[in-house]
Amino acid sequence: MQTADIRQRWLDFFAQRGHTIVPSASLVSDDPTLMFTVAGMVPFVPYLTGLVPAPYPRATSVQKCIRTNDIDEVGKTPRHGTFFQMNGNFSFGDYFKEQAIAYAWELLTTSEADGGYGFDERDLWVTIYEDDDDAFRYWKQVAGLPDERIQRLGKDTNYWSTGQPGPAGPCSEIFFDRGPAYGADGGPATDDDRYVEIWNLVFMQYQRGEGTGKGDFDILGELPKKNIDTGMGLERVAFLKQGVENMYEIDQVRPVLDRAAALSGRRYGADHDDDVRMRIVADHVRSSLMLIADGVNVSNEGRGYILRRLLRRTVRAMRLLGVDTATLPELLPASRDAMKAAYPEVATDFDRISRIAYAEEDTFLRTLASGTNILDLAVADTKKKGAAELPGDTAFLLHDTFGFPIDLTLEMAEEAGLQVNRTEFDRLMADQRSRAKADAKNKKTAIADLSVYSAFRASGETVFTGYDVLETETSVLGILVDGASVTRASTGDIAEIILAETSLYAESGGQEADAGTIVGTGFELEVLDVQRPVKGLTSHRVSVRAGEVGVGDAARTVVDADWRRGATQAHSGTHIVHAALRQILGPEAHQSGSYNKAGYLRLDFSWNQGLSAETRSEIEDLSNQAIRDDLEVTTRVLPLDEAKALGAMALFGEKYGDEVRVVDIGGPWSRELCAGTHVRHSSEIGLINLVSESSIGSTSRRVESLVGRDAFRDLATERAIVSQLTSSLKTPREQLPDRIAELMANLKAAEKKIADFESRQLAQRIPELVSGARRVGAVTLVSAAVGSLRSSDELRSLVTGVRERLGSDAAVVALAADVSGKPAVIVGTNAAGRETGARAGVLARAAAAVLGGGGGGKDDLAQGGGSDVAAIPAALESISTSLS
Ligand code: SER
Repeated sequence: MQTADIRQRWLDFFAQRGHTIVPSASLVSDDPTLMFTVAGMVPFVPYLTGLVPAPYPRATSVQKCIRTNDIDEVGKTPRHGTFFQMNGNFSFGDYFKEQAIAYAWELLTTSEADGGYGFDERDLWVTIYEDDDDAFRYWKQVAGLPDERIQRLGKDTNYWSTGQPGPAGPCSEIFFDRGPAYGADGGPATDDDRYVEIWNLVFMQYQRGEGTGKGDFDILGELPKKNIDTGMGLERVAFLKQGVENMYEIDQVRPVLDRAAALSGRRYGADHDDDVRMRIVADHVRSSLMLIADGVNVSNEGRGYILRRLLRRTVRAMRLLGVDTATLPELLPASRDAMKAAYPEVATDFDRISRIAYAEEDTFLRTLASGTNILDLAVADTKKKGAAELPGDTAFLLHDTFGFPIDLTLEMAEEAGLQVNRTEFDRLMADQRSRAKADAKNKKTAIADLSVYSAFRASGETVFTGYDVLETETSVLGILVDGASVTRASTGDIAEIILAETSLYAESGGQEADAGTIVGTGFELEVLDVQRPVKGLTSHRVSVRAGEVGVGDAARTVVDADWRRGATQAHSGTHIVHAALRQILGPEAHQSGSYNKAGYLRLDFSWNQGLSAETRSEIEDLSNQAIRDDLEVTTRVLPLDEAKALGAMALFGEKYGDEVRVVDIGGPWSRELCAGTHVRHSSEIGLINLVSESSIGSTSRRVESLVGRDAFRDLATERAIVSQLTSSLKTPREQLPDRIAELMANLKAAEKKIADFESRQLAQRIPELVSGARRVGAVTLVSAAVGSLRSSDELRSLVTGVRERLGSDAAVVALAADVSGKPAVIVGTNAAGRETGARAGVLARAAAAVLGGGGGGKDDLAQGGGSDVAAIPAALESISTSLS
């Protein structure tokens, strides 16, 4: 049974039983506590917690998921994939335990001919939560399972949550027994590889709190409703139904594995380690393809880092298979071809996806080369010292800066006959992880914190009137202070205000929130921020400037008209710059992010090289041409498919509903899906002044522009500067660059003359210093304070000059000076001096200690510094004492 068939049977089965089919959400989760969509239930969390009323009582989906916590198991077990698809059926307060169990049993055991999966009842086992007697009873009643095939297990395995505070509940897992050839008897409680978990039924009726490991969390209370969340592993059922050994051999994955085998010239099935490597490649290539398709780009943190890790582990596995050239151009298309039937975007968007993946492979191959140099040096150094272990900080540097997985370092060290100090490496990694964790914790908003909004959201969506009007009469539905619902707020308070309607734009789609006020009888609120903490609900963060506001009061939202004009100019400007970029660079220059506010816009786009000055001017010219052409700006709301058919540009990683707003500037000249506020005619933008273009990673660039009045003001400032220069240099504008270049050249020549003169003067001091030489211990010592100097370079050249004049008898020169207010001492020795045991580094360090600082260097020349100029005589004295 092909994977596509298993998927279709699932959707048909549940659709026939009253479930709404919901398309897969993006891998990039909406939930701020989760980096990725890790389960089929993630997009439904607001319905499970009751934060947002569920639009349907039952739903079913086949959800793309990413989990990387078991990344080290990939390829070693039959069932661990970093990317996988989870078939789910969900009930939001509708059916519960008994019906969920009945559906699962029916679909699994109905024959293939009748639309089911045709599993033999005798091969199926289940586990339940230890005290879930109801589940036990239903499994006996509904499925007729004998007692010994229903195993009771603890909270660590049979109590499910996403690992974060949020919805949770006891669960019941269904397993397929692959038979005695795969492991010991005794059911799922005994053996993981023989009994493969295929389906998890979660009876989701509780809210869990904070906690770390599995099962280590408190239950805070019941959810408003009893829900069902189930997840069947599509890949797992596929490998069992396709009669293959593991999930890497199914129709959607195997082609990549075969490609890896062909490229390496090794045979799959011949060697265990090689097999694992090929399976890692097959898994990671597919995960990378799907992640990039959902808008993830390579970076050093968060999601981008996970993507980078997957791609680098692929390169690494291929290297261990004996291929050290780029292989993604072969592997990625194989994965695309296996996945495009289920996810057509991996083919239509392949240009962009492959560009990102191939660039990362090239970068890593280069990095591998430079990292290898570092490793070679460290190996040589370690051997020179006669040690057997590479220091942990070298391994950490290679990991952190060069992206070397530790096993790569271990292996390369081993090739050189060395071990690696793992303890130190692990400690550095743990330090880094706890820093990252602390950082992530600061950024997170737990789902639980959002629950306060659910009551407001339950009474409906906040209506946005601000496309048409700047002011709206409305009423106050709720007030929050410090996250808690209150009835009033008064002068000086910072509060969140929930209204029935608002003309104030909430930050979204790259556009900053509106500035403005909310006023009513007896109160005035200054709007600090406008956000949508949950879908459909707008919250206004305000400072109460005067009076007191209460729930139920009538209020008027007032947008600052000047601010809004600037914001609409900037947002329409962003669309224009995007269209201009694509006309000039080509359609691959696709927007990957944007930000705009009154007077300013920033646009990030996929592109892997800097823009020349000419290209920048061209983009700016074309943008301003579009402004002068006075293009009409129109908006309309259409079904998503129709909008896409019209060629409207959607953004990666952005979520769209069934109905979308399309913004046209000059008809199809610029056509984007966008919910922002816009000017009515492009000429209202006034002016676009492209002020910067920079890199934000290997495949992305950023342009920044000033817009409207701010654009003009910036140019006016430049004009003022130029006119100041023309008058002070008495040079016409056009000749300014030449004139400045000429002045710079003159200045350089003058500086050189001064430097020559000063060094001659310095040299003249040498004879006098030499004449002060005296015998101390076994050497001739010149030791003197030479006053103030401009740099320690001057001091150094005095020391070497004196040393030269002292000839070949044992000599030490120690000179000190005040360099820009700080004491400096430099010590030099000649060869004969060193033979007597004098070491410049040791002497300089000792003198520096007297000066209140540190120092060091080689045996022949060394430098020290400090903070106390008055200590110079004592410092010099310490040198002569230690020589005598
Ligand atoms: N959320 C559960 C899981 O991921 C069932 O869908 O296993």
